[in-house]
Amino acid sequence: MVKVITYGTFDLFHEGHYRLLQRAKQLGDYLIVGVTTEEYDQTRGKLNVVDPLMTRIENVKKTGFADEVIIEEAAGQKFRDIQKYQIDIFTVGSDWVGCFDYLNEYCKVVYLERTKNISSTMLREKNRHIQRLGVIGTGRIAGRMIPEIKCVSGIEAQGVYNPHIKSAQRFAETWEINCYKDLETLYDEVDSVYIASPHHTHYGYIKSALAHGKHVLCEKPMVLERTQAEELFQIAKERNLILFEGIKTAYCPGFERLLGIACSGAIGSVKSVDACFTKLEDADQRELTDLEYGGSFTELGSYCMLPIIKLLGTGYETVDFHTVKGGNGLDILTKAQFQYENAVATATCGLGVKSEGQLVIAGTKGYILVSAPWWKTNYFEIRHENPDEVERFSDRFLGDGLRYEVGVFLSMINGSRRDEFKLTRGDSIALAGVMEKFLKENRGKN
Ligand code: CTP
Repeated sequence: MVKVITYGTFDLFHEGHYRLLQRAKQLGDYLIVGVTTEEYDQTRGKLNVVDPLMTRIENVKKTGFADEVIIEEAAGQKFRDIQKYQIDIFTVGSDWVGCFDYLNEYCKVVYLERTKNISSTMLREKNRHIQRLGVIGTGRIAGRMIPEIKCVSGIEAQGVYNPHIKSAQRFAETWEINCYKDLETLYDEVDSVYIASPHHTHYGYIKSALAHGKHVLCEKPMVLERTQAEELFQIAKERNLILFEGIKTAYCPGFERLLGIACSGAIGSVKSVDACFTKLEDADQRELTDLEYGGSFTELGSYCMLPIIKLLGTGYETVDFHTVKGGNGLDILTKAQFQYENAVATATCGLGVKSEGQLVIAGTKGYILVSAPWWKTNYFEIRHENPDEVERFSDRFLGDGLRYEVGVFLSMINGSRRDEFKLTRGDSIALAGVMEKFLKENRGKN
């Protein structure tokens, strides 16, 4: 019996897939089809798979060509499967020519001619209107966002607005996008906006964008007052628009896994979360010169509070801030200490002070250590009393990681609320509440 194996995502099942499976089956007597998981696809940069795994498997089965369907969930699995299932022929479409020649040592490799003019990518783009995204603000994070947007199919940066027209022009030239002189023109040409302006301007921009019927992806901290967050989410809800706070860590696969493992009982009950993020900034940067809204906590607090609220919840009893101020009075180091009924946490943020940027989650049976940069979670360890007992976990974190949040933002616009739990409205409202308390106590804001 000649055994054949092939692999694919088989998203939005189409004629190209059908013809590939038909010819794969004809190569032998028994066909095994490996269908990829969403997680595996994410690690190889396919962020916009539409059909859930079960639908994709059902579609492969419906063709009647597959004698067996297996799940492909990791790189390197093909090599193992070929030996495990005693495969004679490995086959894929001709878009992969050369990529799997290394398997020739274990079986015959056949590249089948790809069916022309059809692909899942084409269907995804045809079925959906491409989201035209307008960028408001041209700071460093906006410059990091544009290449990340290009990694997500179905969304495109359309143009940029900045009241400082020269900055907007420079940004538009660099990224080859439009430059809008005013917001009204931007709103006329986009479906959604990405707000990367100074923190205190977010509220006004979000409100105006929502009033113009635009979905909003806003940099953290989204707003600086609890009631502002509540008001804006209410407006978004009434207008059926997505309002989304961009804390990239919340959406990356490694962080999601970390939360799952921390909550699984692997370290017992979580009693303490300590997150630290420090960055040595040039003294002339906005973060260290904006006397009203700059400083380390407003800049980095959202990251450090994320694991705290995701693991211990938003119902803390008290939060206190301990700060070290620089010459101009801005906090160059802040430790926010949270007291929960049965747990404690600290968020340590520094802009003029450098420390070890790690995340430690302590439980009654052990602890999780995520080394710097934990906010780009790609590796962590579970440790126990016995120092030899260490479990290691790793995940890929692609590029700057912003692509993950853009992918989720887009799928929410397109109607899927499956990933909303990663950073809920309640989470964002709680984060705004902490920022408000910090600014009141540290800057005397009312
Ligand atoms: N395939 C094919 N002809 C096409 C499209 C896909 O023969 N027009 C083959 C691929 O070469 C692969 C299998 O079908 O062997 C599964 O491909 P998959 O990556 O799931 O489909 P694509 O349409 O290529 O998906 P995408 O656009 O997301 O890359």
